[in-house]
Amino acid sequence: MSLYLNNAATSWPKPRVVAEEMSNFILNAGANLGRGSASDRDVMTLGLVADTRAKIATLFDGHSDRDPRYVTFTSNVTEALNVVIKGFLRPGMTVLTSSVEHNAVIRPLRSLERKGVRVIVMKCDRNGFLSPSFFEEEIKKHRPNLIILNHASNVCGAIQDIEALCGICGDYGLPVVIDAAQAAGHLPISVSKGDIAALCFTGHKGLLGPQGTGGIVWRPDFAEAVSPLIEGGTGSFSHEEVQPDKLPDKFESGTLNLPGIAGLSAAIDWIDARGIKNIAEKSNRLGEKLLDGLLGMPEAILYGPKTMAGRLPVFAFNVKGWDNAELAFKLNDRWKIETRPGLHCAPLAHRTLGTFPEGALRVSPGPFNEEEDIEFFLNALSELVKDSGE
Ligand SMILES: Cc1ncc(COP(=O)(O)O)c(C=O)c1O
Repeated sequence: MSLYLNNAATSWPKPRVVAEEMSNFILNAGANLGRGSASDRDVMTLGLVADTRAKIATLFDGHSDRDPRYVTFTSNVTEALNVVIKGFLRPGMTVLTSSVEHNAVIRPLRSLERKGVRVIVMKCDRNGFLSPSFFEEEIKKHRPNLIILNHASNVCGAIQDIEALCGICGDYGLPVVIDAAQAAGHLPISVSKGDIAALCFTGHKGLLGPQGTGGIVWRPDFAEAVSPLIEGGTGSFSHEEVQPDKLPDKFESGTLNLPGIAGLSAAIDWIDARGIKNIAEKSNRLGEKLLDGLLGMPEAILYGPKTMAGRLPVFAFNVKGWDNAELAFKLNDRWKIETRPGLHCAPLAHRTLGTFPEGALRVSPGPFNEEEDIEFFLNALSELVKDSGE
């Protein structure tokens, strides 16, 4: 059996009910959404999708009395971010973003930059934090049309002060888009409280759902200001040759990942039954142990915050004298420990931490890990480090 410590890439294992409900949908339901004859199976699919939308609206405290129409399903957060970014930004507009963003944000922005969108990247500090006062100065200086912020770093785990940053956006009446890829399922997020214009999430990380799921929780007025990226059949308004402007249809052309939605729905129930706070408490306890172990190892150089306050249990580090890819290879080869070396699809974040281009080794425990797993990993790492000194 391997020891999985790569939950920032995707959570694993998933709660058993996730697989069971996906299988149940395929074996016993399976009808498409809005493309049938109101059979029992059609109604089952309709119920599943509507219920899951409502669960997501509630989970993220969506706007407009948690109106589930303002939840859009996508196949991951990358698609969600592309829908928002490419549907809103036009040549001549300015967008502000941070220097810890994932390529899911910066690549679409760089592509729009070539078409005349002004892209300003705000520098975070060496631990990955964006200072609210610097952020406000940048807003005053650049007068952006849109702001896109990472909630929690997939490299060094730094959690931004989203409340303060969103509050500043609110003061200036600016729409803010949040990449909640790593935060969702770990931190309580309120779209309404933060007045977030669009919250983009992925289903397969902290939400413990299957790959191929994700979405957007919209503020209604912002959803109106965004054009759909993909147009086509919605199972509705079939007499019209143009894309409907009503949500959820506006942003959901083509058949949805219905087995995935069944799995995501079960995952959210699983999380709800235990509480995000309790799940996070356990992961943070494991994080604390890992952090202590890494900080106590003189050969290890840890990047990002040095305490659990303000961070997720996602740790990037290098070991003196070791290439991080070789370290990852040896951990897997000798102990079957799964981690992730390199740049983590986030070259900007690594530049910010001072680890570009070599990257770092990332270790990220999840809710199914136990204290013994962390001890096993730390012992294995110590043994490797000892070897390199001989
Ligand atoms: C912060 C962040 N944004 C975006 C993504 C992209 O996620 P997905 O591959 O699910 O679209 C990730 C995944 O690593 C991430 O950590």
